[in-house]
Amino acid sequence: MGLLRGISLIFLLGVLVISHFPNANAHAYPNPINLLMPHSGSAGHRVPGLNCLSWRLAVETYNLRDWRTIPEECEGYVGHYMMGSQYRKDCLAVTSAAYDYIKSLSLNKDGKDVWVFDIDETSLSNLPYYARPSVGFGANPYNATAFDEWQKEMKAPAIPSVLSFYKKLVRYGVKIVFLSGSHEEFRQFKERNMKNIGYTKWDMMILKQASESKLKAVEYKSAHRTKLEKMGYRIIGNMGDQWSDLIGDHPGMRTFKLPDPMYYIG
Ligand SMILES: *[C@@H]1O[C@H](CO)[C@@H](O)[C@H](O)[C@H]1NC(C)=O
Ligand SMILES: [Mg+2]
Repeated sequence: MGLLRGISLIFLLGVLVISHFPNANAHAYPNPINLLMPHSGSAGHRVPGLNCLSWRLAVETYNLRDWRTIPEECEGYVGHYMMGSQYRKDCLAVTSAAYDYIKSLSLNKDGKDVWVFDIDETSLSNLPYYARPSVGFGANPYNATAFDEWQKEMKAPAIPSVLSFYKKLVRYGVKIVFLSGSHEEFRQFKERNMKNIGYTKWDMMILKQASESKLKAVEYKSAHRTKLEKMGYRIIGNMGDQWSDLIGDHPGMRTFKLPDPMYYIG
């Protein structure tokens, strides 16, 4: 009797352990961001008057604008946030909301429904670049040469939840427009990087022309969205990591803001 009970207890434990990890397969998806080690640092109260979580909230809500660098005392916090699980969870919350929205629409399949995606820190992530000790989260000023070299390596991973949302949109027959402030001269690198990580098709990839280099992001993006709508497309959704992706003219029927406490583009 005792033996039988012992065996059933072991069996029960086995069932509990297995059922506790039902999604073991969910981690089979290659996920380069996950391989990076989180930095140390916390939202902390070490600096009187500045709480880094409050700073990040102010950034995301667009209460803070035109900021140039992450406050020095929040660099560790931002690195930890970006490389840990919270950033990824926050992205997933955005794409889940966007998917719920798509499901709520009755799309009329006339080929005019368009979704606009930004590229950097939206469709793909430059986190492996920022995670380099020589770059970091805010301590060093932006180095265009180094960033351009990184772009040419074409090693930026996808933000997994955005990629899976993109795939759903493609299945729904929504046209995909990538609208990025990246310059035209980087097209071959951007396109190859995007294809390598799973963004296999799109209807347009709009990159900044030399003639547009003086335009602010919000002006440049507004102009192209206006052009799209003049061509008869309906921008049913628009997703980006910067407010300048999502405000201005013809922002789209719904906008979805991904988190980005690393940099500000006005
Ligand atoms: C910027 O990056 C380039 C290429 O990696 C490097 O040679 C240069 O020293 C960097 N400049 C500064 C100011 O750090
Ligand atoms: Mg972006």
